[in-house]
Amino acid sequence: MRKKIVAGNWKMNLDYEEGLTLFSEVVNMVNDEITGQQHVIVCSPFIHLHSLVTLGKASTKLSVGAQNAHQAESGAYTGEISAKMIRSVGAEYVILGHSERRQYFGETNELLAKKVDIALKHALVPIFCIGETLQEREAEIHFDVIKRQLTAGIFHLDASEFAKLVIAYEPVWAIGTGVTASSAQAQEIHIFIRNEIAAKYGQSIADGTTILYGGSCNPKNAAELFGQADIDGGLIGGASLKSRDFVDIARVFN
Ligand code: 13P
Repeated sequence: MRKKIVAGNWKMNLDYEEGLTLFSEVVNMVNDEITGQQHVIVCSPFIHLHSLVTLGKASTKLSVGAQNAHQAESGAYTGEISAKMIRSVGAEYVILGHSERRQYFGETNELLAKKVDIALKHALVPIFCIGETLQEREAEIHFDVIKRQLTAGIFHLDASEFAKLVIAYEPVWAIGTGVTASSAQAQEIHIFIRNEIAAKYGQSIADGTTILYGGSCNPKNAAELFGQADIDGGLIGGASLKSRDFVDIARVFN
């Protein structure tokens, strides 16, 4: 059975103390309340990573991740953070290709392919984000957009590397808007993604790939979304900033 995951993306929120307080609450709730096989991940700003890894060490149900990494190994890139640095503090995951990075920082599929390579090289698991904008959906090119994001972003990997990835489908029009994709809309894209993976890497790798849904996911709609055959969990923005809501979403898999 493929892994079920609920991952929080704190984005650029919470100062150091606030982050530690929230994470400590999450650790306690996860330890007390998560009874299934699901895995919980918190993707924090860089400044929190090392402390969160230390706080979460005792829990096998919980991991920590970053939200970005630079594509180069090291060098004169003032202000950037490398995959090796992230791994060196004990983080295990990194979100790559989030639509906010694509939109505000000009990250292209081709650049993201390099980021995926360097993350894997340093034993970080990429949570690779894809998804169409509202205009693309209205123009009915959403399947083409997603196929292109897969092809140019991650389909250069060989099968053994590809099998390590987590994919997150996040329709841009559902992020932070309160408008979630319906479970049928999300499932339609998730099965499309899985079929594309099967065509490229074979059914067994496709069946083993965890594909998360993200976009206005909350404790009220999570069960319905995660109940779909090809939705293996969620990438949670706003609701991951409240420990109760975040862990309630993760509890759907109990
Ligand atoms: P919201 O859950 O706030 O819509 O954000 C989703 C997201 O972008 C997670 O990466």
